Amino acid sequence: LGRLASLRAAIDPSAKGRAARTFRALTAGAVALGLAAVVLGTVPDLAAAHATALTAATLLVSAAYALEYALRVSLLRGGGAERPPVDAFGEPVLPEERGTAARLGQLASPLALVDLVAAFGVPLALLAGFQPTMARLLGLAWILKPVRYSRALVMLARVLRQEREPLAGVLLAFLITLLLAATAAYLLERDAQPGSFGSIPAALWWAVTTLTTTGYGDEVPATPLGRLLAGSVMVAGIAVLALLAGILASGYASELRRRDFLRSWDLVAQVPLFASVGATTIAEVARLLRPRDLPGGRVVFRRGERGESMYFIAAGEVKVRLPGGQVRLGEGEFFGEMALITGEPRTATIVTTRASELLALDLADFRALAAARPELSDAIRAEAERRLADLRERAG
Ligand code: CMP
Repeated sequence: LGRLASLRAAIDPSAKGRAARTFRALTAGAVALGLAAVVLGTVPDLAAAHATALTAATLLVSAAYALEYALRVSLLRGGGAERPPVDAFGEPVLPEERGTAARLGQLASPLALVDLVAAFGVPLALLAGFQPTMARLLGLAWILKPVRYSRALVMLARVLRQEREPLAGVLLAFLITLLLAATAAYLLERDAQPGSFGSIPAALWWAVTTLTTTGYGDEVPATPLGRLLAGSVMVAGIAVLALLAGILASGYASELRRRDFLRSWDLVAQVPLFASVGATTIAEVARLLRPRDLPGGRVVFRRGERGESMYFIAAGEVKVRLPGGQVRLGEGEFFGEMALITGEPRTATIVTTRASELLALDLADFRALAAARPELSDAIRAEAERRLADLRERAG
């Protein structure tokens, strides 16, 4: 049972332990091996010389994924109160989705279908009598295997979903411009070049290469008016691409901010200084704080440096190197406030003693917060004064 639990932990896409990392490394290795076999298998000479080895490699990778698939399916049945919020295939599970029918439904999720094809696609195609080169092509499904482990791709999918309205708008504008450009080119060029511009469908090829600013140059307008048209279509193409890039970039930025905000909220609520203030203030503070993950033994800043932010310790511990000894600060405590208050250089070097999660508050935000929430800044100031007195005493 313990084995099963650790296997389950290993294939959980959100797990961080060693078993999970090993499992992911093995998956990446299998993907690389399998894809190399599929891709090289389309080179006629190689395919002829190493047909057996190539097919054996793809079958080996398929077998490994068949095992993994069986494991994920078997874990679907293992329910219980501590079920993770994602199922064995990495899809989110809502509380009301935990019945047997819903679990079977999970087998039809996109990632689960990828797993199915990755496990059985190549062997079944070979059994069905397809040519080995063609059968191996189904192994291309393996390229999708690492998707569930990539937070960046998950985020991309989210951004696309959230920005679908503006994206659809730009796409529509693109299609409108495309058709208008093709029609105009057809009207202007059909007499000069009946081959390339004799109909709207024929002119669409020119329109699409011009509007995307690809410009193969295989079809070019010959009349002066046609060239004028081409110029404006190219400019319109740049505008469309810029719009697309802008929408995606701002979508990414707000998605990142949202993710950081949610994380900060959880962490801020754990800091005693903020615990007593209401949800509104926590939200206000969470927006200002930037989470920073640090491993153990990392210098956060050094004595004598200029101070631009202070830090709250959400998890972990740091040591403050002081004359004649060191002080340890743990969860819920803060440091780096003195430089912000006095404008003097850092009075001490700070080092993490173990992996820690810090929340950074920048100078400008510290001032804004102090003005808006005097009770918070009073508490911080009081502690800073106590520390200053301690420093003076140490200095003798
Ligand atoms: P700052 O001077 O910005 O950078 C070093 C930090 O170490 C300082 O702010 C305080 O947050 C912290 N610090 C300095 N002296 C002490 C002390 N005596 N006890 C605990 N923390 C201290």
